[in-house]
Amino acid sequence: MSTLGELIDYRLSRRGFLSSVLGTAVVACVPKKSELLKEDLEASLLAESSFDFPNLPAALDRTHHVSEGYEVEVLVRWGDPIFPDMEPFSWEDLTGEEQAKRFGHGNDYIAYIPLTAESALLVINQESTVAALMFEGETDYVADDPKHAPVEMMAHGLSVVEVQSESGRWSVNLGSEYNRRITVDTDMRISGPAAGHDRMKTPADPTGTKVKGTLHNCSGGTTPWGTILTCEENILYYFEGTGKGTVETQNFERYSIGKKKTYNWGSTDPRFLISHSLNEANRFGWVVEIDPKDAESIPVKRTALGRFFHESANPIVNSDGRIVIYMGDDAYFEYLYRFVSENGVVEGGDNSVLLDAGELSVARFYEDGTMEWLPLLFGADGLTSEQGFNSQADVLIEARRAGDILKATKMDRVEDVEPDILTDKIYINCTKNKKRGQEGKEGVNPANPRRYNIAGHTIELVPPNRDHSSMTMTWEILLLAGDKAVGANYGIAPLEGAEFGCPDNLAFDPKGRLWITTDGSTDCFPDLADGFYAIEKDGLLRGQSRRLFLAPIGAEVTGPCFSPDGKSLFLSIQHPGHVDEVEEDFITRWPDFDENTPPRPSIVVIRRTDGGVIGG
Ligand code: FEO
Ligand code: CA
Ligand code: CA
Ligand code: CA
Repeated sequence: MSTLGELIDYRLSRRGFLSSVLGTAVVACVPKKSELLKEDLEASLLAESSFDFPNLPAALDRTHHVSEGYEVEVLVRWGDPIFPDMEPFSWEDLTGEEQAKRFGHGNDYIAYIPLTAESALLVINQESTVAALMFEGETDYVADDPKHAPVEMMAHGLSVVEVQSESGRWSVNLGSEYNRRITVDTDMRISGPAAGHDRMKTPADPTGTKVKGTLHNCSGGTTPWGTILTCEENILYYFEGTGKGTVETQNFERYSIGKKKTYNWGSTDPRFLISHSLNEANRFGWVVEIDPKDAESIPVKRTALGRFFHESANPIVNSDGRIVIYMGDDAYFEYLYRFVSENGVVEGGDNSVLLDAGELSVARFYEDGTMEWLPLLFGADGLTSEQGFNSQADVLIEARRAGDILKATKMDRVEDVEPDILTDKIYINCTKNKKRGQEGKEGVNPANPRRYNIAGHTIELVPPNRDHSSMTMTWEILLLAGDKAVGANYGIAPLEGAEFGCPDNLAFDPKGRLWITTDGSTDCFPDLADGFYAIEKDGLLRGQSRRLFLAPIGAEVTGPCFSPDGKSLFLSIQHPGHVDEVEEDFITRWPDFDENTPPRPSIVVIRRTDGGVIGG
């Protein structure tokens, strides 16, 4: 570690980067370099830390790990019943009908909706399935055997479960009236400007307003009125065929429909065949609003928020009362988006149409540390019939192509984007982009500054006067992940051994401190599992990471969510195991370690052994 004076020199030499690390008052009271001993410096930096737990050493093995002073419990696993009087999980006997009543696979986003001080609803996305880790004899991500398709289909969607805490121990209340599975068969409504448009109509739904199910629900957000926003991400894996030669050729090409190997669901449900139902793929890729407190409620696809590979949708109420939602498109060289509602939130009232009218914008970043929000409005800025846009519905259905025309900034795969409700700053995780700067591909830009970006970075946006509807904001890079060899930067005082790769989800704890999960750390550190990290976002240590948890091998950590008292942390352990290892044996059978059970994606709860607040 350098002296504080050297650190300050270093900091000041780096114009525009980490610029809020040192306020004037701090600089003024800093002693000269010679006056500072190393111990003094370390003491002063330690005193600055927002967190009190020891950094967890790196690991990559068959089980999870947590920092000293913490404990981990498994709350619910793939295949666990979520209704009363059901048989225990048996993976050999699983049918679609059974799976529809059990916790799904590939758990991601977790929303915590409080019921009482000791109980809550957890709303959990079940993003995807991995056939090789679910069925005997399957060796790939998608099942070859058609009889496995119904299980895959019912393992997608969401689970709503009531959980209760007794002396800090959480369990699922199987008898709760709120427990619910939402799957690819659940009736949903389509609302907003694209509802009823010809491009949303199918043989099964000539109105273009009703759709069955939701797909690849990745992350999400919770609204102030208690609903959750669940995000349809990689819809390209579900529709067989490219639509080439049809009116949707350009659209489907831009969304990679039919470009990758897809789930074999067409024989079970022909709407997944483009040749049967051309427009079905236009009915996915949206943000879906769900009321978890009504198990009979009809989920609503909110088309005003645009169609792309939605990672997350995190709302904040602007000072003028309007709701503002930040969103990212998690694909190579795609965009950052923002929705500003036309009307204000009605506190305690009816907000059921609030997300149907408003302005969707796409982000462009500039080198001088400013950025601009560019509205996606039919008729303006080239979004006209000459470019194939004949209505606002067209603009929303092809939001990506509209963003191209507006020359939005191509990002390094935007994962979670989340506003800090205490400071109004917005944090953006760009997970990685190995294609950046490669031959024939887009080069670097100010907000995505590394060629062959294997490690990812976090950007901070600052709205002027805390106004989230402002058309311009300022921005900085908070941290560049990875190791020194790829130009990592964790601020002026990185914690040794706390590096990570590929930031994904973001969460704030009740004290307003920032935490992130990772997805793909082994790309950067071969012996480092994915995990959960505290990030210093303010003060002298700004940019510093600290590792609390590591997942079992193969798993990505998703869905971070704190209980309101900050004493319980819910994490989603998404896909333990490796597809390419199953022919010999599963590389891990976490969390059961039972030789008759495959690895099972699960929700875990982390607590401090002394019952205190997570992170201190
Ligand atoms: Fe589903 Fe972008 O992670
Ligand atoms: Ca993600
Ligand atoms: Ca989040
Ligand atoms: Ca990811």
